[in-house]
Order: sequence, then C-alpha cells, then structure tokens
Amino acid sequence: MVDARELADLAIDIAREAGELARRRRGEGVAIAATKSALADIVTEADREVELLIRDRIATARPDDGFLGEESGAERGASGLTWVVDPIDGTVNYAYGIPHYAVSIAVVEGEPDPQTWEALVGVVYAPAVDELFHARAGEGAWLAETRLQVSEPTDAGALLATGFGYDPATHAGDLARLGRIMPVARDIRRAGAASLDLAYVAAGRLDGYVERGLQPWDHAAGALLVREAGGDVTGMPGERPGRTMTIAASPALHSRLAERVFHES
Ligand code: IPD
Repeated sequence: MVDARELADLAIDIAREAGELARRRRGEGVAIAATKSALADIVTEADREVELLIRDRIATARPDDGFLGEESGAERGASGLTWVVDPIDGTVNYAYGIPHYAVSIAVVEGEPDPQTWEALVGVVYAPAVDELFHARAGEGAWLAETRLQVSEPTDAGALLATGFGYDPATHAGDLARLGRIMPVARDIRRAGAASLDLAYVAAGRLDGYVERGLQPWDHAAGALLVREAGGDVTGMPGERPGRTMTIAASPALHSRLAERVFHES
C-alpha cells in the first residue's frame, strides 16, 4: 500500500534541496551547456547537476521506483511508481537571470504515460521566491499552509497564460490559437515556466492556461495541482494533457477556452 503522505514529504524534501542547489548555482553564474531539439531549447550544467541530485536522492530512498526526467531520460522501476522530474522548468528564464523558474516533481502510478498514469503527488518549488506548491491526489492542493482554489474570472475577462513550444514550425499555429482565445482575456502572460503557469492557475493567480508542446515533466505535477484545486486540465478533445495540447482553468472557463482552441473558424 502506497503511503501518499510519505511520498509527498519525500518529494517536498527533495524539491527543496534541489531548488537550493539551483539557486546557489544561479548565484555563481550560469552558462548554457548545449542546445537540444531547437536553438531555443537549452540546457545548463545546473539542469544536469540538479537532476542528478534528485535522481540520486530518489534511488537511495526508493530504489524500486522508476524515473522519467527531462535531462537524463527514463528508467522503469519494479514498484509501479514513477518519479517525473523537471529539474529546472523555465531554463531560459534561469539562463537569463529571470527568477521565474521551478523544480517540478510528480509521483505517478501505472505506465509512465501521461494519457494513462494516475498522479499521486505533485510538487512545484520556486526557489528564488521560496514558494512551494504541493498536492496529493484526493487531498487538495496547497501553497505552504494555504489551501488552493482555482478562480472564476470576472466580467473584466480572464487573466490567461500561454507559451510557445521550441519548434518554430508550430509557432504560426500557436499565434493563431492565441488570437482565438484573446477575446475572453483581460490580459495575457507568457512567463516561461509551464509548471508555474499550472501552479498559478491552481492558486487563482491566473484564471487559465493554454499551451501546445509540453513534455510530461512540464505538466505532471502542475496538472495535479490544478485538479486538486477544483480545476479541469485536459489535452486534445477526450484526452488528458499532453504534447499536442494542455488547457487548464476552472470548469466553466475551461469549456469556453476549449471551444475557442478547437474551433478554428
Ligand atoms: C519549458 C517551459 C516553457 C514552455 C516550454 C517548456 P523547460 O520547459 O516550461 O514555459 O513554454 O514548452 O519546454 O525547457 O524550461 O524545462
């Protein structure tokens, strides 16, 4: 029997330790180590070092669990649980010295596939401002001691966030989609860290969020936060959030956003 509270406590400890390392490395100066799928898709030495720390801590504490990380790939475990990790979400912000970045850690049960897994625990930690968001399935979402609840936008419109995947071939579609959701927006944010966009929807700091191109580690923890704060998070029609689409908001706003995202005329 999985003790979700124990898992959450461990994930929180590891996220804090990893975040502290990321913050320290940022203070010492950061260099881009490599570009990945596209020129804009970068990795720093700190991303790699922080992921290694997280991976080591998990392997020591829970040697039977699997791992799926942005920088070091996947390893199946025997326990049926997988830790889904983005060591530094918002790497471009991090590289430029913008303090909007986070460590994102989720523990999921089942196949390591976001279309079928069940997320048990989600932790998003923003070390530069020392804010830790966490959720346990069925137990709510929290920012420190404060229970989170998604917001309902007012007549002034919704504060929406989005992002643009690194693949330039998708940017025309991203911009067209932005044009379709703009009529329900009071304003738009492109803050640069998907896990924090989702955490902010959970916290009511954003009313909604729409993005194409996310990887499992970008949304695994944040999607649980939104659901546990009373919101809806989906992907393509009938699907869970994934590479091809992620939409997060209160149920009422979510329907309005999905209508605009998928109806192109
Ligand atoms: C990126 C950020 C960004 C989103 C990209 C992600 P990374 O993650 O979350 O906001 O627009 O799609 O890949 O590369 O900084 O871990």
